[in-house]
Amino acid sequence: MPDERDEVPGTGSSAVGDAGGGVSETEIAVHWQEEEYYEPPASFVAQANLTDPQVYERFSLEHFPDYYTEFADLLDWSKRWDTVLDSSNPPFWRWFVGGELNASYNCIDRHLEQAKNKTALYFVPEPEDEPIEAITYQELFVRVNEFAAYLRDGIGMQRGDRVTVHMPMVSQLAVTMLACARLGVIHSVVFGGFSARACADRIVDSGSSVLITMDGYWRDGKWIDHKEKADQAVEMARQDGRAISSVLIWRRNRGSYGSSFGLVEGRDVVVDDVIGQYRGQRVEPEAMRSEDTLFLMYTSGSTGKPKAAQHSTGGYLSYVTAMSKLILDIKPTDVYWCMADIGWITGHSFIVYGPLALGASSIIYEGSPTYPDPGRPWRLAERLDVNIFHTSPTAIRALRKVGAEEPTKYHYNFKLMVTVGEPIEPDVWRWYYNVVGRRNAAVVDTWWQTENGGFLCSTVPALKPMKPGSAGPGVPGIHPVIYDEDGNEVPAGTGKGGNICIRNPWPGSMLGIWGDPDRYVATYYARYCKDPGSKAWRDWPYFAGDGAMLAKDGYFRILGRIDDVINVAGHRLGTKEIEAAALKVAGVAEAAVVAAHDEVKGVVPEVFVTLLPGVVPSEEFGTQVVDSVVREIGPIARPRKVWLVPDLPKTRSGKIMRRVLASISNRGDIGDVTSLANPEIVEQIQGMVQS
Ligand code: PRX
Repeated sequence: MPDERDEVPGTGSSAVGDAGGGVSETEIAVHWQEEEYYEPPASFVAQANLTDPQVYERFSLEHFPDYYTEFADLLDWSKRWDTVLDSSNPPFWRWFVGGELNASYNCIDRHLEQAKNKTALYFVPEPEDEPIEAITYQELFVRVNEFAAYLRDGIGMQRGDRVTVHMPMVSQLAVTMLACARLGVIHSVVFGGFSARACADRIVDSGSSVLITMDGYWRDGKWIDHKEKADQAVEMARQDGRAISSVLIWRRNRGSYGSSFGLVEGRDVVVDDVIGQYRGQRVEPEAMRSEDTLFLMYTSGSTGKPKAAQHSTGGYLSYVTAMSKLILDIKPTDVYWCMADIGWITGHSFIVYGPLALGASSIIYEGSPTYPDPGRPWRLAERLDVNIFHTSPTAIRALRKVGAEEPTKYHYNFKLMVTVGEPIEPDVWRWYYNVVGRRNAAVVDTWWQTENGGFLCSTVPALKPMKPGSAGPGVPGIHPVIYDEDGNEVPAGTGKGGNICIRNPWPGSMLGIWGDPDRYVATYYARYCKDPGSKAWRDWPYFAGDGAMLAKDGYFRILGRIDDVINVAGHRLGTKEIEAAALKVAGVAEAAVVAAHDEVKGVVPEVFVTLLPGVVPSEEFGTQVVDSVVREIGPIARPRKVWLVPDLPKTRSGKIMRRVLASISNRGDIGDVTSLANPEIVEQIQGMVQS
């Protein structure tokens, strides 16, 4: 049964793209009206973690990199670092070098003395009649230790090994991650809604020998049998040369195995059946070097297969802890709910690591936000007295569409609300602020990426006013800049778009791309590095791949991806990945994927395909392409429409003009196409699509 989840943060921006004639669309002037400011509520400011206006001065480039010790000091280190930043081999940054720490210790053990009885995690099952489970820090400590003991002694896992984790939104997922972190095992969590194929590719790329999964889970009122994907993924990985020796299966329901797919003798173990043997065991947290890898997180790029951003232990954890404290304003007394899926970076940073490092209570909600009705999130907020709420524009649009008045029916009280993942339309922002937040909560629009670990742009909620649709300035310590195509700085207030970059390294930034250092340099640093031989960090701005605009007040407005990446309802997908899936259908010759605007999801894929000579067009092809995309990637990538066309518009050098196709799908201006190799096809396709 497919998992149709689509609520998680990600992006809904359409690719801005290369206009083909050499003029980048990011250079065009953007005629947006300036939105009004909203001051943070006085009640919020009165209690905020960060109210010192000097913070921007303290975090100015003049004090770089030392200002980041403030972040590292939020953690407990078993050995203090000697060097804040080793930038001797740019752009391979190493933070807090010489320091040692353990992420699991920082998220659990250090809270026990003061707060062992406090709830660390709430697990909220999708079925509303199933009780909510409150897991205290002590209970989390016990579960993580026992599972770590099993991984170490039962499975033989060691520091540096990789493990692929393909699980739904359950507390056992956080337990798994923290147990890995305790041992120094590198976890690679694959979004539960992804297909077996996607899971297999990540098993192979990461070199995992162990897969951790779950029998099943609830989604949109349906029981999803998840174990099947593990069987398929293991087989696909085997065919691609990677053997999985152990599949560990958590049970969703106490006492009963919920999958119709049985256990493979000698390979599969139900964790709940063996964990009792490790009762009471304690595992000493490994002292990890700051620059050791904590986890891998795969993300889509413009070419080839998804790549893994490799995140460090010390730099990453310092960064997400600081962001959770300074921007999300999390305090140990807060009940915090981030609706993202842990299978994405937002969930890693802001459901698990950041909030737990601060000793807060973090909610893991299994299901769909609109199940069984659109009041669900607000009921949950009321029930658990959530005071910090974190979600995406896609979820906000969906909740508004199905229940614009719902929030008014419940008694909850948010002090802060977060949006992430895609540009939020000012109108949607205002509903969020006025209706969900009752004008009583600060809103932060946080712009960042999988590769970054934590936020790049956002207002500091007690210090800067909010402006709908704008993420805000760089967060303290981050110094963004907009460059034009030639590397000239685009000044503030010109109304011109450009490529947003970050001038300085920061601790949350990935260590690299797993197994592919060249791709790391080429994708993120080559674009604006004027001297590849330079050893000075100032010569290596980070190229984010987003178009953006800088207003006079220093606020950045993000326009969307400039590469071949589309962000569907919060999921970052490479157009190439979807095209590759379409090309698997026998008879299909070419495929081009574009981002078509959608009222709720921001954008959705539409596919244009041509058939091989002699193949007779039929409706069947559309269905087959859709099926192939769902099989290869997952239901989240399901194309809204497949168009069978006689040819695709191409440049004279043979490049497919996706931009022209996107304009047709979105009924926008297709511009001048006379220089194409086959301009006549544009009108034909327009006739088909727009009739
Ligand atoms: O285009 C930007 C958009 O999401 C992309 C990163 O996607 P991903 O790595 O999946 O991470 C999503 C969650 C951090 C960015 O390149 N994006 C993210 N946040 C925002 C955003 N666009 C506009 N406003 C945001 N707040």
